[in-house]
Amino acid sequence: MRKMEFFIDTANIEQIKEMQELGIIDGVTTNPTLLAKEGVEPKEQLKKICEIVKGPVSAEVIGLTSEEMIKEARELSKIAPNIVIKIPMTKEGIKAVKKLEAESIKTNVTLVFSQNQVLIAAKAGASYISPFIGRLMDNGQDEIAMLKESMEIIKIYGFKSKIIVASIRNARHVIEAAKMGAHVATIPFNVLEKMFVHPNTEKGLKSFLEDWEKLQHKLKRK
Ligand code: E4P
Repeated sequence: MRKMEFFIDTANIEQIKEMQELGIIDGVTTNPTLLAKEGVEPKEQLKKICEIVKGPVSAEVIGLTSEEMIKEARELSKIAPNIVIKIPMTKEGIKAVKKLEAESIKTNVTLVFSQNQVLIAAKAGASYISPFIGRLMDNGQDEIAMLKESMEIIKIYGFKSKIIVASIRNARHVIEAAKMGAHVATIPFNVLEKMFVHPNTEKGLKSFLEDWEKLQHKLKRK
């Protein structure tokens, strides 16, 4: 039985540490926006992240030509052996994916919004493909149908690419990803926190403890 992997979608060290300590994190995805939020030197931050999490850590290239992307990817992959290179879903990006995978540098094709883009990235041999389902939902598009068909395409042909369900907006998105057998969900910290909580758990725990206390008092009185 295959396991579903959870990545955390952040470049924040405290958030990564907290979820890592809970033992539920298999990897990390970052992007230029997430790294910019931290306001520190990106390579240093990525190094720190790789020291905490041993699973795949995605780091994105900035260049727009395949030559620039390949150069950056080679540099980024020196940070740590678990760095995966995020490459945008463009023609230049796809050229870079083929070359980098041939050099055994793992790639994660990002900014993927359609089943056709999934198919192309899979044919190029990307290790990971990241459909951005939340942004599709924001556009009023059917993000669940896109994900479902993407998973079908990958499974039918047995492509080696793993689907990372990205741009997750809510805990329901994680359930949808799991139902479709998505390989990975990259989840923001606030959504991971919500996944732990249910009001009945707190209520149930409170009443169990109260009943236990009552029993203790009763026993003391005997
Ligand atoms: C994925 O790898 C991206 O970092 C991320 O999921 C983008 O999500 P957003 O739409 O919340 O920016």
